[in-house]
Amino acid sequence: MSNMRIPQEKFDEIAQANDIIDVISSYTNVKRRSKSFIALCPFHPDRNPSLHISPQKQVYHCFSCGASGNVFTFVQEYEKIPFMEAAQKLAVRAGIDMGSFSGKPDLSSEMSVQFEINRAAARIFYDNLNKLTGTEKDFVWGYLKKRGIDKDAVKKFGIGYSLNTWSSLFSHFAEEESFSPEDLEKAGLIIKKEEDNARWYDRFRGRLMFPIFNENDKVVGFGGRKMHEDDLGGKYINSPETRIYNKSKILYGLNFSKDSIRANDYVILVEGYMDLISLFLAGVTNVVASSGTALTEEQVQLIKRYTKSVVIIYDADIAGIKAAKRGTELLLEGGLDLHVVTLPEGDDPDSFIRAKGKKDFDMYLSRKQSIIRFISGLYEKENKLSTAEEKADFVKEIISYIVRIPDKLKAVFYVKEIAQMYKLYESDLRDAFTAANRQYKKESFPKTSVVIPASKRPLSATHKKTTAVKFSAAERDMLDVFINGGYEATQYLAENIHIDYITSPAVLILAEAMLDEIANEGRIDTARIMENINDTAAKELLGSLSAPKYEISKSDTLQTHSILASSEKGMLNYNRIAKDVIKQFKISRLENLIEEIKGDHEMGNRIIELQKKIRNLKNGVNDTSYDEPGEES
Ligand code: UTP
Ligand code: MN
Repeated sequence: MSNMRIPQEKFDEIAQANDIIDVISSYTNVKRRSKSFIALCPFHPDRNPSLHISPQKQVYHCFSCGASGNVFTFVQEYEKIPFMEAAQKLAVRAGIDMGSFSGKPDLSSEMSVQFEINRAAARIFYDNLNKLTGTEKDFVWGYLKKRGIDKDAVKKFGIGYSLNTWSSLFSHFAEEESFSPEDLEKAGLIIKKEEDNARWYDRFRGRLMFPIFNENDKVVGFGGRKMHEDDLGGKYINSPETRIYNKSKILYGLNFSKDSIRANDYVILVEGYMDLISLFLAGVTNVVASSGTALTEEQVQLIKRYTKSVVIIYDADIAGIKAAKRGTELLLEGGLDLHVVTLPEGDDPDSFIRAKGKKDFDMYLSRKQSIIRFISGLYEKENKLSTAEEKADFVKEIISYIVRIPDKLKAVFYVKEIAQMYKLYESDLRDAFTAANRQYKKESFPKTSVVIPASKRPLSATHKKTTAVKFSAAERDMLDVFINGGYEATQYLAENIHIDYITSPAVLILAEAMLDEIANEGRIDTARIMENINDTAAKELLGSLSAPKYEISKSDTLQTHSILASSEKGMLNYNRIAKDVIKQFKISRLENLIEEIKGDHEMGNRIIELQKKIRNLKNGVNDTSYDEPGEES
């Protein structure tokens, strides 16, 4: 393939078929911001979105690290693969055949054969439904009508019907001779009779067929709902796992809802095909369905590309919560904001919205509760908080959820809140939390929590070579405050620091570890941090900073001189230094930003605005309106 010359038009076609917003969305969470789109930049540690994507120009640019390019370079850089491989990937993604340049079905690989089979089958089921006649037509369309599905909905969701005979699908394929029975069997559409090797029969018979699409609108499998009384199979029969249908990686409906999820910045997670379809038809479109199975880690990652916020619809009792516990834990571990809505008993989203309409559904949505509060509320409602044992039980249970929240400041906030709400001793709860947290960390990851992609960021002028590690004066002062400052100063830093203020990878590792310590332990134990980090540069840096005396150079940009380790200066001084550190970080960040957009004519006003912010910061004007570079106001 690499030897073949591929005409430029082919690449144009691939670029055209792969919208940059869509492609980047499949790697990182993209949000709309006025005319452009923004995302957390995957090419450097980014806590506030600094990657700007232009749908008009089909390009991206990171205002923080300078990464920029088009859809090909994005895939190349992200996946660390050569151009041709990136082009190939994008071609496959858009269903463009790079091998033959023809419009014929691509049968060049097992996967492409599977895609073709599923597409053809969806077509056949869909045609079946539309070509029904007589009583069967009345029966099936009557059922659809009863469930609120009209012709438009059938078309939109590609709904079909598998004829109620033993092998009509198989015969259909056999006539066309495009695919072998073995391939059809691999696709899960036909099954071999045990006793008779030459005979095959259809998996789906007399069922309403819901095609299951992947994110790129390709059919990968089916869910078939029982329609006939004499059908002894389950209510739903689904395609088995195949080369193209990995159940743990698919969420039903995501191909329809991804734009809406991004626009609403939250997703509603439902169980069934019909739940999703009915919500859609009522105008609630930011939905995905788990198809009745337990949520997987991969599905959580999939959701995270589009939003950080999930609303689940739960049965309102402790049993319901416990049944869904693993999925809930995974969502929390994924760092997602998790809220719960309960519908009246006996209703699922489908039945509810069809009976009551969107207004009522929205009202229930607006009463959503954070998962932590929701569970607590259940214990209260079910009267499980009266005795000491019950309280202990509750604490154990609720803590098992809270430890899974990666944002430890948020977790600590819940601990406080729960303690207040249920009149528990905060110290008890905190101790339980700390213990559970240690245990949890031990079990789940001996890994560090920060992943630092190879940064392409040029080191700015303030960076000096000191040891092997490069860092700025502000960065060093920040670490010094963490190590030697008092409660107030460390807390100030913890609250105001943004990870992307920090440009040195070693400093970043230390800062993360320190913030983690503050959140978990309330103070910093440098010995423990030293034990827990693996990075040699970071270790070395921490060692040199913790030593009683270290070389101090004058910061060239800080208004105050850099602090002295030997200092008689007390905690008050550290408080001031903490403030200066943050101020200096903000100034550097703004200066870098100006540097990067200087050449862009459209950015003139923005530059003036940024310069004003810098002046204000330098003059000590308390500019509370300070916004993060990259966030357009
Ligand atoms: P439900 O039993 O809640 O079905 O299963 P439902 O979606 O409300 O279906 P209707 O409204 O009766 O048509 C929820 C989901 O669990 C999966 C399906 O994906 C279903 O949508 N399921 C359920 C199966 O895979 N097999 C089954 O036998 C039942
Ligand atoms: Mn239902």
